[in-house]
Amino acid sequence: MLPAGFAGRVVRWQRTHGRNTLPWQNTRDPYRVWLSEIMLQQTQVAAVLGYYERFLARFPDVQSLAAAPLDDVLALWSGLGYYSRARNLHRCAQDVVAVHGGAFPRTAEVLATLPGIGLSTAAAISSFCFGERAAILDGNVKRVLTRVLAFGDDLSLGANERRLWDHARALLPARELQENMPRYTQGLMDIGATVCLPRNPSCLICPVQPQCAATQAGRPEDYPVKTRKLKRSAESLWLLHARADDGSVWLQKRPTPGVWAGLYCLPVFGSREALEEVLPRPVRRTLRDVEPFLHVLTHKDLHLHPVQALVPAGWGGAEGAWFGEREWPALGLPAPVRRFLQKVDS
Ligand code: ADE
Repeated sequence: MLPAGFAGRVVRWQRTHGRNTLPWQNTRDPYRVWLSEIMLQQTQVAAVLGYYERFLARFPDVQSLAAAPLDDVLALWSGLGYYSRARNLHRCAQDVVAVHGGAFPRTAEVLATLPGIGLSTAAAISSFCFGERAAILDGNVKRVLTRVLAFGDDLSLGANERRLWDHARALLPARELQENMPRYTQGLMDIGATVCLPRNPSCLICPVQPQCAATQAGRPEDYPVKTRKLKRSAESLWLLHARADDGSVWLQKRPTPGVWAGLYCLPVFGSREALEEVLPRPVRRTLRDVEPFLHVLTHKDLHLHPVQALVPAGWGGAEGAWFGEREWPALGLPAPVRRFLQKVDS
């Protein structure tokens, strides 16, 4: 049995207790909403705010984004992580212009055909901008709904996840969709992000607590159930920090696909020996190892070992080019590489 009046509770609570002043709210412009939803994937609101403003100032509409070089997009994304989002964002803008005449599609079904827009993101955009009766189901919302429904089946199995999608659709508001769908979608996100937390959820202030089967059984933290854990691995990489006399640094564009695809980076090697091989013998004697540091990706821990070398300006032992002190800060660099270069520069 699905809880009656669920959507109404979420909508009423969102009006008075939800987040209503974020920069991507109070607009129905799909470009702004789409941009925010992509930035907010796997990234907290606080981290997104500055990037969102800078991005909109540089690319105020989908046409300007579509016409920009990918390098400019990656440079503005630099530090936000998950760079495939930026590459898909750019391709998506180009598809909106080339295939859809510059206007975002108005249904989740068609939006989900565009690069980087999954089912849940598509539904967020169409419900926020067009009042479509479409269900979202991101990680936070899965937690809210599995708890409310005491849905204990393993979400690692596609069939169970599909049943949860069916429930999510059945719980949607049925009336006054133009007003209620944006509120309901935002309300579910807000409950997931601020109330129904993974650990120690604030059930006492939750608007759907009276209907929450997991809380009534005293076990909200038992949900969601997901048995397949992310397999993590670790890798060591050596970064060549080659500098010329004039302070320039040698950077190469990372290949696609792969980690940091399309970004500018210090040349990367699988071993210190491989790094040495690209350098002339006299330079090898001058190498300086810098304190290694850890960079955590979703699937992998990267142990990064920078090695500094003073290299003649005519050197061309690795793919790439020299970038001066005023040039490299404007490039799209992986956040740990930018931090490293800033630190050694100061
Ligand atoms: N996370 C994903 N979408 C969001 C939104 N619209 N507001 C706040 N956090 C979000």
